[in-house]
Amino acid sequence: MERLQKVIANAGITSRRKAENFIEDGRVKVNGKVVRELGTKVSHRDAVQVDDILIDKEEPVYYLLYKPKQVISAVSDDKNRKVVTDYFEDVNARIFPIGRLDYDTSGLLLLTNDGEFANMMMHPKNKIYKTYIAKVEGKPTKEEIESLKRGIELEGIKTAPAKARVKSTTKKTNSSIIEISIHEGRNHQVRKMFEAIGHPVIKLKREKYDQLTLGNLKPGEKRELKPIEVKKLKESAVT
Ligand code: URA
Repeated sequence: MERLQKVIANAGITSRRKAENFIEDGRVKVNGKVVRELGTKVSHRDAVQVDDILIDKEEPVYYLLYKPKQVISAVSDDKNRKVVTDYFEDVNARIFPIGRLDYDTSGLLLLTNDGEFANMMMHPKNKIYKTYIAKVEGKPTKEEIESLKRGIELEGIKTAPAKARVKSTTKKTNSSIIEISIHEGRNHQVRKMFEAIGHPVIKLKREKYDQLTLGNLKPGEKRELKPIEVKKLKESAVT
């Protein structure tokens, strides 16, 4: 048995907080009857409706995918390009990506059918660090790296403090490898940050999501998260 607001949030309809409002507003029915009491427990056999639409409850599942380049972080694409859920045809759950990686960015992407968990991972207040390896043009100076760390103005808003370090520089190709960790998820943020210091990104890969790494996975491979890993992510979000 699970609390009604959790079941609604898990179905990916809305956050748990909003689900509570739905319940209080009389928009939720259990087995055909309006239920306004928060915390009402329901089982898998109960029919839960929001605005008279039946929600299908699924067991929550959590996956880590090594997203290859040239794949869209979405469940469908109007131009018929490859999407991340194409790698989950063997998984019988309505999963979706938690946030996005750019079409040309490879690396670690989490997918789930647990809407509440996804909201938790993406909420800016929860400050989940993601680590990227960026190959950039030229050799950023110490001062440029410091400015990334302090925060840099993008479209009039300063980025939050980041961690950044130069891993290597190759004179021959006039490029550098930089490791950068950020906890925000603004659109194309890493690319824009390097653009802003005059060192455009040539290649970008996400290596780490909180404590999770790609391990031995190859592009296009996935694995299910262990319950302890899910638990740790939740703990990182609330601490
Ligand atoms: N920042 C970017 O610029 N691109 C990504 O895909 C992820 C973070």
